[in-house]
Amino acid sequence: MRILVVSNRLPVVVERRGEEWCLQPGSGGLVTALSAALRRRGGTWIGWPGIVDADVTEVARPLATFGRDAAYDLEPVWLTAEEHHGFYHGFSNEIIWPLFHDLQSLCNFDPNYWRVYGAVQERFADAVVRRAGPADFIWAQDYHLMGLGYQLRQRGCTSRIAFFLHTPFPPPDIFCKLPWRADVLESLFTYDLIGFQTPRDRDNFADCVRRLKPKVRLQRGRGGLHTLRHEGRSALVGAFPIGIDYAEFGGAAASERVSQRVHELREEMPNTQIILGLDRLDYTKGIPYRLKAFRLALERYPELHRNVTLLQVVIPSREAVPEYQELKAEIERLVSQVNGEFTQPGWVPIHHVFRSLEREELLAFYRVADVALITPLKDGMNLVAKEYCACQIDGNGVLILSEFAGAAVQLGRDALLVNPYDSDHVAEAIRAAVSKRHHARRPAMRRMRRAVERQDVYWWTEQFLRASGIDTDIVKEAEQPAAEVPEMQVPLPPASDVRATWAWTS
Ligand code: G6P
Repeated sequence: MRILVVSNRLPVVVERRGEEWCLQPGSGGLVTALSAALRRRGGTWIGWPGIVDADVTEVARPLATFGRDAAYDLEPVWLTAEEHHGFYHGFSNEIIWPLFHDLQSLCNFDPNYWRVYGAVQERFADAVVRRAGPADFIWAQDYHLMGLGYQLRQRGCTSRIAFFLHTPFPPPDIFCKLPWRADVLESLFTYDLIGFQTPRDRDNFADCVRRLKPKVRLQRGRGGLHTLRHEGRSALVGAFPIGIDYAEFGGAAASERVSQRVHELREEMPNTQIILGLDRLDYTKGIPYRLKAFRLALERYPELHRNVTLLQVVIPSREAVPEYQELKAEIERLVSQVNGEFTQPGWVPIHHVFRSLEREELLAFYRVADVALITPLKDGMNLVAKEYCACQIDGNGVLILSEFAGAAVQLGRDALLVNPYDSDHVAEAIRAAVSKRHHARRPAMRRMRRAVERQDVYWWTEQFLRASGIDTDIVKEAEQPAAEVPEMQVPLPPASDVRATWAWTS
């Protein structure tokens, strides 16, 4: 049995250099772990190569060569500019992305986007059917491919197929706004396993099924796996928190070059605690709220002046979507306001970096940061939180984390949990974090590092494949302890932190 991974993007970056097409391997823990699984089992990665309206024959050869070197095949799904616009910018990024992050007012429910999304699901399904044998296992990734299962079954595909959603899944009151809500659910029912990041997402999905499809039977099972029965088929529904390649991060962060860069950064920013914010440019990351909370902290606690510096890194992304351009302008405005108000000779409160980082620079930022301030409004997981912990090899860092990030399920007991919309609370957490002495920081960071290490991306792959009924020892590259998927909820912040908003009336 081989594995076919299907995702919007292929795990390569395709670039034209002069007359040549050049391919760079994609990066990230997901690519590493799935590539390992594909190499062990043999298989194919199917996806869009990142270019539109290309001359297919020109790019096909470098893709084939890349596949030979990677020890698994790449099957490109070619899209026209129009298809890519409706499917990716439109349905995926202007409808599902904001909706699934509870930001329904940002959705553009253009019916044409839905039509193009459907047509592109067919393109992906055709590519899968070309490659899949009946015994193969097909694993679709993320919201770009919610309709793939239905299209595969329409084509008579009897293989085992599974789906994992990397984003959150919204509760019924929000999901029901989607004009094509029933179609999306019914397509998801065609998968054999439907995976979510957290128990909350799984339960939101179950609540939507109960609300919109009351005849479907849902039964709770062992290890948090539910069984869904619909029209003679059954599917498993579970939570599988994705992880990172912990060992790789820790090892690279400890390298000589990164250590040297950490030393330089310390000399460049002396006598100040560094608070790191690091996000893709995205309105779900809550960057303007965070900057306002930082401003409030500076207003309220003058002892922070000169003693803390916010290093806010924003990685450019989805720049064609109008909301992202507006967000960029808003961030720049806020940074300039705060710096204008508080800068003193020798101290600039916010250092704003807007570009992609080289890996060594990224690792040095993680290592040098005394505090990570990770406050998405909602996030499927947030791997930055886990990467920060993995790079805290000295063990002195403090994590301030949004209670609405999936990572809060595993890290929330040891992080300072905040509601990112509550600027009072975030400002207080900033002060509390920087005031913590090293000996008080270490036990919490140790526990978080252990959690990230134990439930790394190989563990995640293994858990998911095992739930799909696949013998997993072949997947492992490193020895991983097998563990049941934890059935944990995000812990509430300590009672004293949950301030009633009506307190001002007393
Ligand atoms: C999120 C999504 C991924 C996506 C990534 C980058 O993490 O869950 O599926 O690949 O963002 O976004 P992009 O639109 O550039 O692929």
